[in-house]
Amino acid sequence: MSAKFITLEGGEGVGKTTQIAAVCEFLEQRGIACVATREPGGTPVGEQIRGVLLGNHVIAPETELLLLFAARAQHLQEVIRPALAKGHWVVCDRFTDASFAYQGGGRGVAEGMIEALQAQVQAGLQPALTLLLDAPVEIGLARAKRRGPADRFEQETVAFFQRVRAAYLARAERWPGRMRVIDASGTPEQVKAGVISELERFCP
Ligand SMILES: Nc1ncnc2c1ncn2[C@@H]1O[C@H](COP(=O)(O)OP(=O)(O)OP(=O)(O)O)[C@@H](O)[C@H]1O
Ligand SMILES: [Mg+2]
Repeated sequence: MSAKFITLEGGEGVGKTTQIAAVCEFLEQRGIACVATREPGGTPVGEQIRGVLLGNHVIAPETELLLLFAARAQHLQEVIRPALAKGHWVVCDRFTDASFAYQGGGRGVAEGMIEALQAQVQAGLQPALTLLLDAPVEIGLARAKRRGPADRFEQETVAFFQRVRAAYLARAERWPGRMRVIDASGTPEQVKAGVISELERFCP
């Protein structure tokens, strides 16, 4: 099978960063080389942009979107495309579905602007599989809160995160083949079982 690009998506605290290890472990057990990475970030300049995005700045929604795509352009060029070209699978903690959910659904940026950036920056590259970890907003926020101080996104209102969640679920309904919804409200082991069962369907 050719190298695949897999993304993990979902709102704050649903367990993306926790479950990425399970995805790589599953692939490596099948002898598949796996590069785990994240957005925003994944490159030195992308991590600097992440710092700006998560810091306590006032950032206009369109600026936020452009910064995310600036980091994404660098990430694609420096990490994602070269890894796929070498035959390594890439597993990314958040990608463009997050821009549609957060900047589109959450902040109300026009979908057309996000689609235009997606077309230019990704030039047709899409994840082959997106695991959408889904849980009620309050559950994810409580987990994120236990983890440590809130970043710029985590300080948003519950209503904001409800819009983010609804936007993610609407995308999953629109692309049921690529996007698989996993119940992330249970224990880490239960969520991992959901992740593994989708991976088994994807690469039996
Ligand atoms: N299923 C779970 N049940 C309870 N706690 C969990 C579960 N999964 C992860 N956690 C814990 O909740 C916190 C958030 O998890 P994690 O960082 O993996 O979420 P995330 O989706 O990456 O969040 P963010 O969107 O903020 O990056 C962590 O402290 C983690 O240890
Ligand atoms: Mg995370």
